[in-house]
Amino acid sequence: NAAEKGGYEHFMLKEMYEQPKAIADTFSPRLKNGEIIIEELGMSPEEIRQVEKIMIVACGSASHVGHTAKYIFEDMARIPVEVDVASEFRYRNPILNDRTVVVVISQSGETADTLAALREAKKQGARVLGIVNVVGSSIAREADNVMYTWAGPEIAVATTKAYSAQLTAVYLLAMKFAYERNEISREMLSELIDELKALPIQVEMLLNNQGKIQKFANRYLAAKNIFFIGRGIDYAISMEGSLKLKEISYIHSEAYAAGELKHGTISLVEEGTLVVSLVTQKELYKKIMSNMEEVRTRGAFVMGVTLEGNLEAEKSADYTVYIPETSPYFTNSLAIIPLQLFAYYIAVGRGCDVDKPRNLAKSVTVE
Ligand code: G6P
Repeated sequence: NAAEKGGYEHFMLKEMYEQPKAIADTFSPRLKNGEIIIEELGMSPEEIRQVEKIMIVACGSASHVGHTAKYIFEDMARIPVEVDVASEFRYRNPILNDRTVVVVISQSGETADTLAALREAKKQGARVLGIVNVVGSSIAREADNVMYTWAGPEIAVATTKAYSAQLTAVYLLAMKFAYERNEISREMLSELIDELKALPIQVEMLLNNQGKIQKFANRYLAAKNIFFIGRGIDYAISMEGSLKLKEISYIHSEAYAAGELKHGTISLVEEGTLVVSLVTQKELYKKIMSNMEEVRTRGAFVMGVTLEGNLEAEKSADYTVYIPETSPYFTNSLAIIPLQLFAYYIAVGRGCDVDKPRNLAKSVTVE
């Protein structure tokens, strides 16, 4: 009812606005005197140094957090990472041992495939760490260790605040591993902690910019196809942006690694097709901008999402949304906000049942 929604039209909107708090509540208890303390990890520094491989297993949006995590862990902590959706992992005979950490990510802690994957990983002797939102859920109980995301109850089927809290948990974990394994210095760790602490206020700023996104979304209510492109972490953001849009608005959408466009998706670009391009990784600016030109030549209208100050992006985009400066590792947390708002306002504009999209369930407890 209206009271439960706290004055917001939908749970999804309310939960989007709860993201600054979800992020802060997830990192605050784990930052002490300039250090990252994750007691519930249950691993000594020595054990952290002995890890040979990380496997991330999840479904839906949580698996997109996994994709972001792979880029961060490999670059920051120099540990090989595999990411898999749980329904694939459990039947593919994965190679793991007691030096593998399997990170299982789940909002509900009840997703059947994710739970089965967890059991399989334990059977094979891996250490299983759950990143879970619902306290006392099955995955939380069965994992060897559990790191809770403190997003609070999430009602809307399309996840927003739990996703943001999962990203935060992953950042903490990567920073902890990177530091214990001497891959980042104390100075670097302090800098990252400062950037992390700035995220809630930055997310709030982006949420307050919703009017602009709403206006833009209203131009695309009749779109047939919308594409999301990016490279590296921006590709991971694209997957989540695309999923949000299609699940609640029923507009067909795909996320593509920008360099792979010419091997497929580009044939679907027509005059006026909207392509949302994520441009948050400075090292890849030139590459992604050339992909934006590629689709524009074929008639696409390009919306760029980039860092403040990257005025160059305006030249390759028809419409630009800016996010504040942050560490390249953390841009997902900011760039996802305009994409959530965009999906939300398109769905509202099309009269969709935003909180309960057809055919989808909040928690999938059957295989
Ligand atoms: C369902 C939900 C998704 C969610 C996925 C995984 O499909 O609709 O939003 O990402 O399950 O759920 P979990 O609770 O394991 O994070």
